Amino acid sequence: MKLICANFKMNLTTPILNIYLAAIDGKIKDNVIFFPSSLYLSMFKERGYQVGSQNISFKESGSITGDLSVIQLKEFGISHTIVGHSEMREYFNDSKHVKEKVNLALRNKVKVILCIGEKLEEYEKGKTIPVLKKELDKAIKSNLKLITNDNLIIAYEPIWAIGTGKIPTKEILDNTILEIKSYLKEQYNLNLKVLYGGSVNLDNIEELEKVDSIDGYLIGGASLNPEKFLSLINKVN
Ligand code: PGA
Repeated sequence: MKLICANFKMNLTTPILNIYLAAIDGKIKDNVIFFPSSLYLSMFKERGYQVGSQNISFKESGSITGDLSVIQLKEFGISHTIVGHSEMREYFNDSKHVKEKVNLALRNKVKVILCIGEKLEEYEKGKTIPVLKKELDKAIKSNLKLITNDNLIIAYEPIWAIGTGKIPTKEILDNTILEIKSYLKEQYNLNLKVLYGGSVNLDNIEELEKVDSIDGYLIGGASLNPEKFLSLINKVN
């Protein structure tokens, strides 16, 4: 079964989440992980769902006003955390901290969904693969001893595909994911799962399902409506 990660980003509040939880009750298999805003992790955890955080601090504790430590998030039951989402890289300069975040998560037995992806300009200039390799190296090189085939998952999210309704063609996507996998194997002897993220929705899921190299999905906008999300995940093998 493919892994499905529902990334709510900074959306939904308690009244809507209550409606959401009622709508999905009894309909979610254990290949789904919810990434609500950290404030609401326990609402999902209490009902037996797998949960993850959208981010963790680059420090374990200390004077960082406004941040959340992996240790604190673990108290709320997270099994996974997203690291290096392009929105965190853009607004919070997260590329600088990906290495520390991967390290902290893995040392605390929290699995990492590492987001990598190229900007539109890089895509158009044919620089996708070098950009992805650089992002992988930054996260993996110094943490290699901590990484297993099970505790690090890659989410390939072309930045130009996030929230835009555009996705790469099947051929380009398959090639890119195969390149990621073979680089990880050759360079680090790792066989990691690679998820696809960026405008996954009900209109394109059947196309995406034809791409053999995809091991799962990181779904933003299309996970916010419970009925649509259920229809979407029912189309995933
Ligand atoms: P999207 O977001 O599905 O809304 O494009 C995906 C993501 O950013 O994780």
